[in-house]
Amino acid sequence: MKVLVIGGGGREHAIVSKLSESPEITALYCAPGNGGIASLATCVPIKAAEVEKLADYAAEQGMDYVVVAPDDPLCLGLVDLLKARGIPAFGPDRAAARIEGSKVFSKGLMKRYRIPTAEYEAFTDLSQALQYVKSAPCPVVVKADGLALGKGVLICQTNEEAVIAVTQMMRDGKFGASGSQVVVEEFLTGPEVSVLCFTDGKTVKPMVSSMDHKRALTGDRGLNTGGMGVIAPNPYYTKEVADRCMREIFLPTLAAMEKEGCPFHGCLYFGLMLTADGPKVIEYNCRFGDPETQAVLPLMESDLFTVMQATTNETLAQTEVRFADSASCCVVLASGGYPEKYETGKAISGLENAEKTARVYHAGTKRTETGEILTAGGRVLGVTAVADSLKTAIEKAYEAADCISFVGLHRREDIGALALKAR
Ligand code: AMP
Ligand code: GLY
Repeated sequence: MKVLVIGGGGREHAIVSKLSESPEITALYCAPGNGGIASLATCVPIKAAEVEKLADYAAEQGMDYVVVAPDDPLCLGLVDLLKARGIPAFGPDRAAARIEGSKVFSKGLMKRYRIPTAEYEAFTDLSQALQYVKSAPCPVVVKADGLALGKGVLICQTNEEAVIAVTQMMRDGKFGASGSQVVVEEFLTGPEVSVLCFTDGKTVKPMVSSMDHKRALTGDRGLNTGGMGVIAPNPYYTKEVADRCMREIFLPTLAAMEKEGCPFHGCLYFGLMLTADGPKVIEYNCRFGDPETQAVLPLMESDLFTVMQATTNETLAQTEVRFADSASCCVVLASGGYPEKYETGKAISGLENAEKTARVYHAGTKRTETGEILTAGGRVLGVTAVADSLKTAIEKAYEAADCISFVGLHRREDIGALALKAR
């Protein structure tokens, strides 16, 4: 089978790497791919958001299956375009992708179907939003409605900060059209858990749970980023919590999407907070998490391609989804300055040594004509180690990460520290 994966980050490197183990796949392609993916798949220079071009390319090349990994092409309807050309794909169609693409949609869904989440108000009118946040209890969370590269969520400590956040989003167009509507919600506290689930619209099969580390700096300080590291499984996500999430959140969400006429196929990501009142949804993503995937897929024992096809063919109930009983840790190596301004084009050394004991997933890298690997993005590499215990996985990941250097390298030193405390 000829398979095309869409995307070019660490998540896609982890997906391509797992798919390359599948006996059914005879040729793997990735658009646009990156310096690491190039050693496993043929990279195709089409950007993930160029959905018409991608659909045409997949049809011309006779692809048997397409895996759409990033949010942009999913929200732009790439799965629908492929379907129209007779090509099956992994991922939700445009209507179902709204669960991530519009917070007004997802919050409304949770309210209508009584799925536990933060209390909120949605606004399309600037003056009404301002009036509300001037007297809302603080801290208060202001979220842009649409996609904003993970940056559209502002936790405001004071009413003044919330007024500025709303004004920047709704009047000054800080996040473009994504901020023309906003959601203002209650601030929740508790450990966070990411649960990525395979689903075919009716059956849901969760992957091993994980914990992302979103803030840029050690000690959970600094700006929010796309994610600086992950451990799996998440020790706060006990069997009891998992059963409760299945009952109160996962199954009701699937049923709600079906009732709304947009059943969800693919990977549904539940960003949860374990509050004193029970687990609540912080966000849904319509795709695999990044960097969660880099910690979760190395623990998967079942064939990823078989499971992906089962989500498309609606045969997930009969398909085994098995994970190893081990632990993993992924440490992200970023460019100095990320998530703000940073430099690229720095030579990376030590990859081979790191790869002796860990998996090194490329996120923002580029391979030169002479085979040298250079930095090419904010998050550059994800170094994942697997071990019997979480403690050993963390130690192994940092040992391997220590082998790698490039000018300006920045990482957090405490990935997994909070998880170890839970034990
Ligand atoms: P999101 O991009 O929606 O995942 O939000 C980014 C981060 O902001 C989350 O991982 C949480 O840490 C935090 N956050 C979002 N919504 C809330 C909330 N209602 N209460 C507390 N923290 C939140
Ligand atoms: N790691 C968070 C996300 O993928 O949205």
